[in-house]
Amino acid sequence: MQDTLSAILAKASSELVNLKTRADFEAAKARYVGPNGELTALMKQMGAVPKEQRPAMGKLINETKAQLQVQLDSALARIGDREIAAQLGPAVDPTLPSPDAGRGTYHPLTLVREEMCRILRKAGFTVIEGPEVETEYYCFDALNTPPDHPARDAQDTFYFPEKARFGNVTKKTPEEKYLLRTHTSSVQIRTMLKGSPPIRIVSPGRVYRRDTSDATHSANFHQIECLYVDKNVTVRDLKALLDYIFASLFGKDTKTRFRPHYFGYTEPSFEVDLSAQHLPKVNKEWIEIGGCGMVDPAVFEGVGYDPEIWTGYAFGMGLERLAMLMYGIDDIRYFYQNDLRFLKQFA
Ligand code: DAH
Repeated sequence: MQDTLSAILAKASSELVNLKTRADFEAAKARYVGPNGELTALMKQMGAVPKEQRPAMGKLINETKAQLQVQLDSALARIGDREIAAQLGPAVDPTLPSPDAGRGTYHPLTLVREEMCRILRKAGFTVIEGPEVETEYYCFDALNTPPDHPARDAQDTFYFPEKARFGNVTKKTPEEKYLLRTHTSSVQIRTMLKGSPPIRIVSPGRVYRRDTSDATHSANFHQIECLYVDKNVTVRDLKALLDYIFASLFGKDTKTRFRPHYFGYTEPSFEVDLSAQHLPKVNKEWIEIGGCGMVDPAVFEGVGYDPEIWTGYAFGMGLERLAMLMYGIDDIRYFYQNDLRFLKQFA
């Protein structure tokens, strides 16, 4: 029997390395360990082995079976690797020069984002990023947005199913749901909870809303958020910074104006309009560009900052809108179509 066992192992090792498909593998496996397999047949003969030899024989069969299993496992792993390699196609060398003539260009949204960050860095702001998957607390509650606020509606916000888990995104309470952030304002809260004032941050990033897409709407777009917390911060400081930003971006002829508005996280709150008729394709005197205000005392209390001591301003705006104004782009969908004829214009 011992010879038969070694013969089976030897045959298997030469046969299994040549298997190419899962079907071949299953057939081979059946030939050895299936109900009618060679090894199974030997095991069935154990009854005929004299009693005193049985323990030694049993041990030998078990060892053979274990070795065979190792060979089967590695054969299956090899077949899996082959399948993946076939799906991936021929190897690609990413260090080779591009088949397109010349160098690539930056996406217009990247250009505007980087320009905004450059301007704000000069004004002392630090660029930080927050998670795109957020929780209700950071996106709404901590921003003083009541549970019945329309922005929280499932018609407007992408919520994850309750069983979804994102281990790297901290929740405040176990009950709250995960969602795709509807604005970058959530980064204000994460920053204030992590650090202590004075704070000067700018946070660009993707945001998500349940919008159907048209020339000016997209379910996924980009925003930039700013937060400044210090002593004695006033609306004048806010207006001065926005004037400075827009003059740097669009030229000295650019004017800004504040219109009273409501946001839960700022008081007073404003919408910011821009007058920049010298820009391409601008045919209105005033264009709305973002929201802003003085950080609401309730927000400070929520993150443990004493509102009697600390003051601050915050603002947020859409990067697409800025890029559309800057370059005279009249349809937001161009940003996402990866059409080289469009993208190459921003070299
Ligand atoms: N989060 C607002 C939006 O998505 C924009 C905004 C308004 C940001 C006021 C702010 C703010 O920081 O103070 O429309």
